[in-house]
Amino acid sequence: MARIPPEADAMPFSDKTFWIETFGCQMNVHDSERVAGTLAARGYVPVERMEDAGLILFNTCSIRDKAAQKVFSRLSQYKALHREGRIFGVLGCVAQQEGEELFHRAPHVSLVAGSASYPRLPELLARLEAGERRVSGLEPAGDEAFETELTRRGHPYRAMLTIIEGCDKQCAYCIVPYTRGRERSRASAAVLREAQALAAAGYTEVQLLGQNVNSYRDPSPAGLSFAELLAAVAGIPGLKRVRFTTSHPRDFSAEIVRVLGDHPALCDHVHLPSQSGSDAVLRRMRREYSRAEYLEKIALIRACRRPLAITTDLIVGFPGESERDFEQTVELIEQVRYAGAFIFQYSPRPHTEAGAWGEADAVPAEVKTERLMALQRRQQEIQAADNQAWVGRTIEVMVEGFHERLAQWSGRASSNRVVNFSGSGKLENTAPGALPLLRPLRPGEYAWVRIVRAGANSLVGEQAPPPAAGA
Ligand code: SAH
Ligand code: SF4
Ligand code: F3S
Repeated sequence: MARIPPEADAMPFSDKTFWIETFGCQMNVHDSERVAGTLAARGYVPVERMEDAGLILFNTCSIRDKAAQKVFSRLSQYKALHREGRIFGVLGCVAQQEGEELFHRAPHVSLVAGSASYPRLPELLARLEAGERRVSGLEPAGDEAFETELTRRGHPYRAMLTIIEGCDKQCAYCIVPYTRGRERSRASAAVLREAQALAAAGYTEVQLLGQNVNSYRDPSPAGLSFAELLAAVAGIPGLKRVRFTTSHPRDFSAEIVRVLGDHPALCDHVHLPSQSGSDAVLRRMRREYSRAEYLEKIALIRACRRPLAITTDLIVGFPGESERDFEQTVELIEQVRYAGAFIFQYSPRPHTEAGAWGEADAVPAEVKTERLMALQRRQQEIQAADNQAWVGRTIEVMVEGFHERLAQWSGRASSNRVVNFSGSGKLENTAPGALPLLRPLRPGEYAWVRIVRAGANSLVGEQAPPPAAGA
């Protein structure tokens, strides 16, 4: 371990304004909401611009090298603010990956904390406030999930809710088990209490989060399975849309599909990362399923009582991936016809099995880029063709905002497809005899939209009356 620079410039700080920039997955976005809640409870006030904050936090991602490098470029970009007495903190996966080495790489950083240490944030903050110059929280995850009432949600109508933290899988390429630690599920009663409180506070959409939601194991005597938990959340009055991410194919069960069929509040969408279409690559990735087993799960989902959109994650250029392996991935997306796919170039990561393999089987950078582009192109063609099936149908959309440039509203369908639409607004004051009033739509409201056009990445429509029942 490199020597940590001396604590020459220790001083207490009293500027209780903060700013957090978040990178990475939804787990991180939600963690930032919990960190913001903890800060608010200690009297900190959020500010709009980093330059105005006394405490500047980066909640970081290290899933690929590029993501991890972002924080270092941010840190050097804003280094001058440290001389003005601002305090810098690095949270999340890069913090856990780098540990105290981070104090050496960026000596103006005063706080380094991984996600398993967030329950200790009040104590870590108190030490910073008292003037301690380098404070770290880097312990491995314990057995219990992080429970806190101190969440400051950034979104007024769609709420994220963690049900399981960490990951017990050991995919050869992935740093998450190292940065997030072992799996810890929350007690079902705590999840349900939080979901009920969200509904009572006016949230209509809840997203259940975990690196691997379907390996959820209720630690309480209630012993709910993931599917039972889904059903229970979906049954909470007021919740209109319940989503969940991410599902691991190995743990994805017929019971989940049955529950999806039975509960209209569960969204028409399953995100099921396949990573590759080649058995040889899946084996080396340690994904714990073959292509055929993956396709069996797809068949289960396709057999659901109502149509579900299926999306995925794919990695190209994993070490040893041959042209034939890659073609099998192309064939897989043609066979499944995903409604969307996140496609990544393999990036070697520290603390992973594949990261230690060296260059011998590495796929050259230009081949990775070619494969990425070829797969993306094919996926776009599939989406463009399949989205045509939506033209002429009327679907319900949760309004997210208004696009000034397009002069259109934008929102999402239950399938998570983006829908842009023109609309007159919402009719109010519709009691008999009253003068009806047309007001603009508001984010978080639902509108019915008749789809008139479809592109690869969005549907375009116009506001319309709801379809007649049974239509
Ligand atoms: N827990 C989720 C995914 C977490 S990371 C799951 O298992 O599906 C999100 C995605 O990042 C992964 O699905 C994978 O496609 C991608 N990813 C992870 N590690 C990567 C690496 N080293 N290089 C490139 N992509 C990676
Ligand atoms: Fe990473 Fe695999 Fe765990 Fe997903 S299941 S977080 S890809 S180790
Ligand atoms: Fe990134 Fe950590 Fe999420 S590595 S993807 S922020 S779990």
